[in-house]
Amino acid sequence: MQSLGVRLIMAAVVLAMAATAQAPTTFQPVGNMSQLMIDIIYPTSDALFYVDRDPPKNEHEWSLLRGQALILAESGNLIMMAGRARDQENWIKYSKIMIDLGKTAFKAAQAKDLDGIRALNDPLNDVCVNCHLQYRPGYHKRPAPDAK
Ligand code: HEC
Repeated sequence: MQSLGVRLIMAAVVLAMAATAQAPTTFQPVGNMSQLMIDIIYPTSDALFYVDRDPPKNEHEWSLLRGQALILAESGNLIMMAGRARDQENWIKYSKIMIDLGKTAFKAAQAKDLDGIRALNDPLNDVCVNCHLQYRPGYHKRPAPDAK
């Protein structure tokens, strides 16, 4: 028969192990999904979508665009975080596509390749739309074209 002390210590060890196993991620989320979209993903993707409105002309302006591309790419990681990812399938798929496109834009900006950034316009728009169709509440609730 174990002493009460030994049993208490064992119970404490088991509890500590359980706490470690269940410890949530060490990330400290600040914004909700809507805020990440409005304050990070929307402005940074706009910088790429509308690059021709005011194309970068000097080192400083290229560095700003490069930063926008990098933030957009990395924001794909932010939305895949545990607690943010809505599932492990299409959500992850679309997030990774956004990361890849942001990464390509980042490299294009490093190379000061305006055409390379322009070429991302359609695929980038597609990934926003595709994810919104599946996950954004109330998105695209218009009737189908033939449903008069
Ligand atoms: C992996 C999925 C996913 C991708 C990719 C994605 N979004 Fe979103 N977006 C969402 C979800 C989910 C919401 C709804 C958020 C909410 O209201 O909680 C949303 C909402 C938004 C909103 C509206 C926010 C509000 O509350 O008014 C904007 C703007 C937006 N997204 C922009 C973009 C743009 C631009 C892109 C592409 C560059 C993009 N999103 C890519 C999932 C995604």
